[in-house]
Amino acid sequence: MIDRKSEIAAARWDTQLNGTRVLYGAGALERLGELVAELGLRKVLLVSDDGVCAAGHVERARKALGAERVAWVDYDGVQPNPTSEHVEHAAQAGRDAAVDGIIALGGGSVMDCAKGANFILTQGGRMEDYWGYGKAKQPMLPSVGIPTTAGTGSEAQCFALITHPDTHAKMACGDPRARFRMVVLDPELTASAPRDVIAMTGMDAVSHAVESYVTRTRNPVAQAFAREAWQRLDAHFAGVLDGSADVTQRGSMLVGAHLAGAAIEHSMLGAAHACANPLTARFDVVHGAAVGLMLPATVRFNSAEVSALYDDLHRGSPADRRGVSLVDRVVELRSLAGLPARLRDCAITEDSLGDLADEAARQWTAGFNPRPVTETELRGLYEASF
Ligand SMILES: [Fe+2]
Repeated sequence: MIDRKSEIAAARWDTQLNGTRVLYGAGALERLGELVAELGLRKVLLVSDDGVCAAGHVERARKALGAERVAWVDYDGVQPNPTSEHVEHAAQAGRDAAVDGIIALGGGSVMDCAKGANFILTQGGRMEDYWGYGKAKQPMLPSVGIPTTAGTGSEAQCFALITHPDTHAKMACGDPRARFRMVVLDPELTASAPRDVIAMTGMDAVSHAVESYVTRTRNPVAQAFAREAWQRLDAHFAGVLDGSADVTQRGSMLVGAHLAGAAIEHSMLGAAHACANPLTARFDVVHGAAVGLMLPATVRFNSAEVSALYDDLHRGSPADRRGVSLVDRVVELRSLAGLPARLRDCAITEDSLGDLADEAARQWTAGFNPRPVTETELRGLYEASF
């Protein structure tokens, strides 16, 4: 009989990606204490949220830390779309306990909040001070990212997306030092995510693969990550949605989401994300639903210039072998996920499209779209999605 330890060891890999050690394996969370101790950490800030606590993951992480005599202080108050105030609270918890490292255990919001707290703990000031790229001056604390959703790929990125508490603008605060020192991909953790979270985060991962493959700053490295991500997401999104996916298939989805996140680090995103952010800021549309609303129209619009690239991304994927095009597959996945297909179904009014387009044109990601977009084209994308 295979015991638990050899089972964990069997399906495991351990590598380096963009300067981060990435460790994959079902049950890998059980090794957290040992992994953190290897980084020389003795007292860590453990960032999570209510859902992750309720699923029992935080308790398992604490047990693993305790077994290696690593002390921790909890911050489990992360909310969706964390603001600079949430970040400040998390940083305060770490400052009070004089931690020497940070662990983020949760979805994209937890990852973003933990990265943000690292900026504030080590550099001082407010999150607004780091809006943009490369504004950190001091080293940051070693950090470990452990995603519990197959979605944002935030654990693969050096950007913290923090919401401005007054304007609700998404502040992208990036610095190579904010990158997680280690990422633990444990497919046992994603089993507990509620279906609506699986749907939203999976759609986000899909949009990352599709957008990062074709951006103006695309390159072979980003495209290799995005292509591998798309193949995995296309193959397993349906299974994780209906619960039929086993741990290996859930793991493939988790790796796909991670690689899509890594692709963004190399080539950024495009108009679907530029249009999605104002929908979240103004109408509270959850990010995954917002990109799902905008992605098909964006792909159709971009196809005038990069249809060969979309074909290349999609070639040989399970849907392609069935004769379903990339854009039709995106629509199909959105429908399987039960996500909205039209802006009008999300309480968005037609008279707001002009203001939305004005905001979308000011999003950083708009400048990376392969086909140039101004307010006029972005309004066209909203109208096509209305
Ligand atoms: Fe996204």
